[in-house]
Amino acid sequence: MSATGRPAVWAPAVWALATVTALTGCVDLADERAANEARIGQRRGAGLTVAVQDGLAAVRVLEPGRLELWPQAPGLTVDLDAEAAGEWVIEVRNALPDALLSGVAATPEPRDLPTHKAWRVTLPAGPSRVDLAAPRAAAVEPFRIIAFADTQEALPEAGDFFAKMAAQRDIEFGLVSGDLTDMGYPDEVRLFQRRMEVLPFPLYATLGNHELGESSTAPAFHRYFGRASFSFPWRGARFTLVDSGTATLAPRTWRSLHTWLAQGRDGFHLFMTHMPPLDVAGLRNNAFASRAEAHKLLGTLARAGVDLTIHGHVHSFHAYAQVGMPAFITGGGGGIGEAFDGIDRHFLVIEIDPVAQTALPAVVRVGAAE
Ligand SMILES: [Fe+2]
Repeated sequence: MSATGRPAVWAPAVWALATVTALTGCVDLADERAANEARIGQRRGAGLTVAVQDGLAAVRVLEPGRLELWPQAPGLTVDLDAEAAGEWVIEVRNALPDALLSGVAATPEPRDLPTHKAWRVTLPAGPSRVDLAAPRAAAVEPFRIIAFADTQEALPEAGDFFAKMAAQRDIEFGLVSGDLTDMGYPDEVRLFQRRMEVLPFPLYATLGNHELGESSTAPAFHRYFGRASFSFPWRGARFTLVDSGTATLAPRTWRSLHTWLAQGRDGFHLFMTHMPPLDVAGLRNNAFASRAEAHKLLGTLARAGVDLTIHGHVHSFHAYAQVGMPAFITGGGGGIGEAFDGIDRHFLVIEIDPVAQTALPAVVRVGAAE
């Protein structure tokens, strides 16, 4: 029983009702969240103005002599404007292990994790620009990535899940299609970051409905991991991840999406949201709140030549097609699994050929949590 005298069994029901309520009247929330997100990557303080192009990194720390970034992409361009010439340390977490900093004279500093990079730089007074990039980014040839979602309430027991991802060979990066956490609290986001420390590659994530449990408009996800709607190129392919945490796309996200679709039209283009636009199995509505918007989105993606869509939210694995586009649902991070599907915890290793414009998935099973 709860403290109110109601049977405790009502607590999940109330939470579910609150979630459904949030999902049915949510365009304003999504647009306010998108407006807040637009400020990510811009910061002024300690005598330095920082502007990460396309907002592709969160500014974690800006204090005298130290700038720390968390990228949501393999490459970054950062415009800086210093009030006075001086020495700075630029720290980049969630970086490719072979990433290099260019644009100013930069001396690498050692750090304990392969994805934690740091350089000591001397910035001139006034504007300067630095680029973060890995030399292999330019090679248009097959590569492998990981995709997963829905670690949510199982995150505290997900050590084996992350260890198995770390054991995969030749992974460039991972994509996370949301519900990293159970409620989106800062301590959960920090726990996710600690889980990542075993990985020799970065993760780029969009958010899910579970990231919005603490705040629907300014989630901790934004402060730690950055934007939930973004797009980046890699080795001749393009990757676009879009915030669908309230079962819709914000109007301003729709506008960005058109730009990203145009940029990805000629090559392999992977599109990812947390919510599947349409329910893959029946009418449970594990999907966008509006089927009209879902059909509009899928038609827009298909006309733009998107080659693969990936979603989470459904705690199973499905390989299917949407408007002729190959689609995967991978929600095997440890949330309560679908009954009788025989899937359990899993992630995908996907081999992408940007020349042939194909993607071949392998389901890697992790098994039940101990
Ligand atoms: Fe979800």
